[in-house]
Amino acid sequence: MFKCRLMPASRMAPPGRRILVTGALGQIGTDLVEELRARHGTASVIASDVREVPGHPFLEDGPFRLLSVLDGDGMDAVVREGGVGTIYHLAAILSATGEKNPNLCRRVNVGGITNVLEMAMKHDLRVYAPSSIAVFGPDAPKLSTQDSPLNPTTTYGETKCTGEALARGYLDCFGVDCRGIRYPGLISWKAPAGGGTTDYAVEIFHAALEKGHYECFVRPDTRLPMMYIDDAIRATLDLMDAPPESLGNSRAGYNVSGISFTAQELADTIAERIDGFTCDFVPDVRQKYADSWPDAVDDSVAQDEWGWKAEYDLDSMVDAMLEGLSRS
Ligand code: NAD
Ligand code: SER
Repeated sequence: MFKCRLMPASRMAPPGRRILVTGALGQIGTDLVEELRARHGTASVIASDVREVPGHPFLEDGPFRLLSVLDGDGMDAVVREGGVGTIYHLAAILSATGEKNPNLCRRVNVGGITNVLEMAMKHDLRVYAPSSIAVFGPDAPKLSTQDSPLNPTTTYGETKCTGEALARGYLDCFGVDCRGIRYPGLISWKAPAGGGTTDYAVEIFHAALEKGHYECFVRPDTRLPMMYIDDAIRATLDLMDAPPESLGNSRAGYNVSGISFTAQELADTIAERIDGFTCDFVPDVRQKYADSWPDAVDDSVAQDEWGWKAEYDLDSMVDAMLEGLSRS
């Protein structure tokens, strides 16, 4: 795939350069930009997205750019004019939306990371580009390890495998330091989930508080790897802070383990806290995508190489979600 010109050591962006976040108004970006701005200062973090979300705080607080990741020239201008040294590349089409529109999913997910990696090569940038548990397919063990086979049956999963391969190629050939995590399904309350299969684990909280009832689109025995957003943000920043020499061949897509629970266990845990909450299970097409993914992942490589350990379990995640949503 690549014609290697040279094989330099991994390059680090000089300190003091700003951070660009693509897809910043989405589920993860909403939490990640807030944490990056708390650490580096508001003016140092440029939020960008292809859309404006009415009322989203990033449109008013701090630098925001309307930017499609498919617009290479536009990205180049933002990087040069903004003095960018690191890109957190979150823009993507997630699994449920992606399976409805596979061409869009391929275009945005593969085209987006290609533009970001080209930008990184040209301007000496560091990159964070997340992967997903969707890289695994039905032939992977239900407890998937770092080296389990990557044969996804969703287009979304294929694009994530391609993203990992591109990141490895740009590191080997051009020394681009691109790191990534195979996020489990992420559970957060500041922004809605963005069209994924694991969205039920977010929607259920909103429905429980607003209506006392949820119609869940997967079977009650569906078990998937999940993670509370605070753990995911900490994992992201810990990985980006890790010294390059501690990272091995998994740098483009580390397994990280959070919580593994069934949809029924989630509903029961919420019902213990909200009197009268009920949940029906009416599986739709997303059941097939969920069934093709592992139940849980083994993250011993992330533990060994950069000290990863999750903090939230099912009870503390449910408490944090209900508290966050009740305050917001
Ligand atoms: P999201 O759908 O909530 O947000 C993605 C954002 O990208 C949206 O705001 C959307 O407007 C933007 N976007 C779409 N097309 C764009 C384009 N052409 N140019 C610029 N922006 C565009 O997704 P998320 O949950 O925040 O996911 C972020 C990343 O993490 C993605 O790569 C996703 O695959 C990965 N991931 C997420 C989860 C999860 O559970 N949320 C799990 C595994 C991996
Ligand atoms: N949570 C994501 C999705 O369901 C997995 O990458 O699409």
